[in-house]
Amino acid sequence: MCGIFAYLNYLTPKSRQQVLDLLLQGLKRLEYRGYDSTGVAIDGASAGDDILLVRRIGKVKVLEDAIGELCRGEAFNQPVDIHIGIAHTRWATHGVPSEVNSHPQRSDVENSFVVVHNGIITNYKDVKTLLEKRGYVFESETDTEVIAKLVHHLWQTHPGYTFGELVEQAIQQLEGAFAIAFKSKHFPGECVASRRGSPLLVGIKAKTKLATDHVPILYAKAHRPHGQPFPVLQAGSDGSAEFQPLEHKEVEYFFASDASAVIEHTNRVIYLEDDDVAAVKRDGTLSIHRLNKCTDDPHIREIITLKMEIQQIMKGNYDYFMLKEIFEQPESVVNTMRGRVRFDTQTIVLGGIKEYIPEIKRCRRLMLIACGTSYHSAVATRQLLEELTELPVMVELASDFLDRNTPIFRDDVCFFISQSGETADTLMSLRYCKQRGALIVGVTNTVGSSICRESNCGVHINAGPEIGVASTKAYTSQFISLVMFALVMSEDRLSLQQRRQEIIAGLSQLDEHIRSVLKLNSQVQELAKELYQHKSLLIMGRGFNFATCLEGALKVKELTYMHSEGILAGELKHGPLALVDDEMPVLMIVTRDPVYTKCMNALQQVTSRKGRPILICEENDTETMSFSTRSLQIPRTVDCLQGILTVIPLQLLSYHIAVLRGCDVDCPRNLAKSVTVE
Ligand code: M6R
Repeated sequence: MCGIFAYLNYLTPKSRQQVLDLLLQGLKRLEYRGYDSTGVAIDGASAGDDILLVRRIGKVKVLEDAIGELCRGEAFNQPVDIHIGIAHTRWATHGVPSEVNSHPQRSDVENSFVVVHNGIITNYKDVKTLLEKRGYVFESETDTEVIAKLVHHLWQTHPGYTFGELVEQAIQQLEGAFAIAFKSKHFPGECVASRRGSPLLVGIKAKTKLATDHVPILYAKAHRPHGQPFPVLQAGSDGSAEFQPLEHKEVEYFFASDASAVIEHTNRVIYLEDDDVAAVKRDGTLSIHRLNKCTDDPHIREIITLKMEIQQIMKGNYDYFMLKEIFEQPESVVNTMRGRVRFDTQTIVLGGIKEYIPEIKRCRRLMLIACGTSYHSAVATRQLLEELTELPVMVELASDFLDRNTPIFRDDVCFFISQSGETADTLMSLRYCKQRGALIVGVTNTVGSSICRESNCGVHINAGPEIGVASTKAYTSQFISLVMFALVMSEDRLSLQQRRQEIIAGLSQLDEHIRSVLKLNSQVQELAKELYQHKSLLIMGRGFNFATCLEGALKVKELTYMHSEGILAGELKHGPLALVDDEMPVLMIVTRDPVYTKCMNALQQVTSRKGRPILICEENDTETMSFSTRSLQIPRTVDCLQGILTVIPLQLLSYHIAVLRGCDVDCPRNLAKSVTVE
């Protein structure tokens, strides 16, 4: 999905060349989100020049080369005390990837106002018609261009407005989702940014300690007398508080759509809320404005300290982030359990939902709502949740859930599982359930994300930053988070104690078991050599391993562009068996769990149609292995955790096939890490 990065240096001299390097570096950090074109805007090289726009189709490297060509000469090396540069990676939604459709989008040929935008403006056609009637000529096919032109129009009609006020006015006219950051030649050295439904944060780097740990919010008076300059501002909840913008000498501000772009510069950030307008003025002060007061608004935005380390978003010795993240799983699963599972006392505490457990126990049903891989983590744990909570558990794909206008009741408990915490379909479903009075539980990997903030309570999965578009370690950590929840729910059930102990023992060995599975890497690589030229791969299993089939097939599709299907082995005879012959690659997961005999039936159905399945089975299970010449052996663990081990060979397999097919492992075509559009 699109990425925003903007950098403002106030009394911290930087040459335009240094600014460009910073912007390009910021964009590189956002590359993992998926994109098809890029662009930057900085001040022109000499005083009085228009803003300089450079936009290109393709990777950041292409933009970097273009900048190397265009931005040469002494002027680019002269330090500038105050400057704002904005940059963007675009994932096309309105209009094909092209230079003119790339961001920054501009208000006019003089580049008076330029804007970078994530999200979709749903009423852009209406706004465009209105602006066309006022003489504006559009050059791109984007929805974003209306934002730049609308602000320009407001500037012309309201000459007294500040930059922040112009943007405040403009966003009132916009519908849909956005995160935006502006630069203007009429407001040099100033930046204004806002968001609604798309994440945006402000990083602050000051030479000396900041005087405050928050920024108060300025509200426009609700009833502005007609003809008064807009907006009349008041601070605090009752309008009486003294307003002090964040003021600092020698300060740098970073506006970004996610923390990975700013963490190498600062760990002090403010997450903006919907409809916040953050403005840095020419005097270097940062203030946050809102048009309307909402009742539960804390009237300040806190500056928080990120715990993330730069190393966490670096590839280290790995060729790809995805491979690094697969190999991080022995540690990431431990981090998910850290401070929560006490193996000595066999107790589990989930601090984020502890107080809600009595309410959850009284609920009518549990609903698990998510997309893609996150949805598979719900499928993977549903059976255990049913077993340990004895509640009905519904598992829903967020997009389908919304299409159906699903009935939701006040005594439902709805879990929203999302690595990014920003997936639009999941977030919309959350809001839908919240409106209907259900208890909202977020399960995310991103502190400060929209799903985190809008949930009543939640579990942070603590997997660490996941950069590869294909989700791997987040899946296993989501899986464990839901298992821990099931264990919490069954804490006082005498009849379930033995089962709980067996699962907790399984959790305690998980890191070692994952290490053993990772040793299969070279064996999986050999298998990939056998498979990578095929057109299709079927993955079969049932029971606790069905989710692995779905997740494995999704990994193969998204990374290798090969067809792949996860098939419930029980459904084989109802259709998919027709696909099986001696050519079709088939992978079967057969572990010694309650459905072992049924899986063996399926295996025999496949071999008797001349199928030559590759097996994922338990170590030393000679009986099962006698049905195939090729098998990957994984350690034995408790049935409900087996899916964590069986999915890893499939993560590795999709990775190796992708490499052999020459695919871009970390940024598969057409896909984005965080899908913030519906
Ligand atoms: O951030 P989320 O977990 O909400 O994302 C949901 C899906 O878009 C995501 O899991 C997607 O399926 C992955 N790319 C799969 O690897």
